[in-house]
Amino acid sequence: MRFDVITLFPDLVQSVAESGVVGRAAKADLIDLYCWNPRDYTTDVHRTVDGRPYGGGPGMVMKPECLVDAIRDIRAINASKSIATKVIYLSPQGKTLNQSAIKKMSTEQGLIFLCGRYEGVDERVLEMEVDEEWSLGDYVLSGGELGAMVLIDSITRLLPDVLGHKDSAEQDSFSDGLLDCPHYTRPEVYAGKEIPDVLKSGNHQRIAKWRRQQALGRTQQRRPELVENRILDAEDKQLLQDFLENIKEN
Ligand SMILES: C[S@@+](CC[C@H](N)C(=O)[O-])C[C@H]1O[C@@H](n2cnc3c(N)ncnc32)[C@H](O)[C@@H]1O
Repeated sequence: MRFDVITLFPDLVQSVAESGVVGRAAKADLIDLYCWNPRDYTTDVHRTVDGRPYGGGPGMVMKPECLVDAIRDIRAINASKSIATKVIYLSPQGKTLNQSAIKKMSTEQGLIFLCGRYEGVDERVLEMEVDEEWSLGDYVLSGGELGAMVLIDSITRLLPDVLGHKDSAEQDSFSDGLLDCPHYTRPEVYAGKEIPDVLKSGNHQRIAKWRRQQALGRTQQRRPELVENRILDAEDKQLLQDFLENIKEN
């Protein structure tokens, strides 16, 4: 998969591919990450990428010419390699990101992430070139770079052959609409706290059932709307009921 990021801070974005899962995926050529600086698409001596807002008011706005030229350049490169490409603008005004949107994006061949700065991007760029707008949440960041890095990380870990174990991503929170179960490693007793007995039983069926029950239970406790919005089968209903009764008793 190919990521192209249009950013005034290419070093910041490139750092996402220097370590961890994304770093390994880049080294293994499972992803390609390219950064494009809008300043390289300016034509004046000052390499100006921003201008005062029409109508007055505080701050500056990113100019359209350098952004549109960068997007079109990348589109042309991708087209010459038969890479279908979508342009995403990171914006607090976009739809809020979630795992199913990430999953969908992970099926694309190429994504261009446009990172705004200042007061944002001239609206005409969005009208002319942007396919989708996505937000990290209902708060305002100084730039879209962290959003692009979040997308690169969360998409990359869903790509084939990226994670060590093929089930890892499928067991993560939200992949089937529930939160993940709790995890434990050695030592068996830490600070007087023991791990649940079932995890030492070696009985894979019991362990799977316990994990499912924990996932259902903690989703009900922490994000009840996720449980309310799904139809539980009889087994899940029973597991959840037992979990909640057990909590009441303790
Ligand atoms: C200071 S913000 C501009 C905010 C804009 N004036 C508004 O209120 O909608 C600068 C840039 O940060 C990015 N950004 C800010 N908040 C974001 C969020 N919640 N999710 C994704 N990107 C965000 C966008 O690319 C935006 O153009």
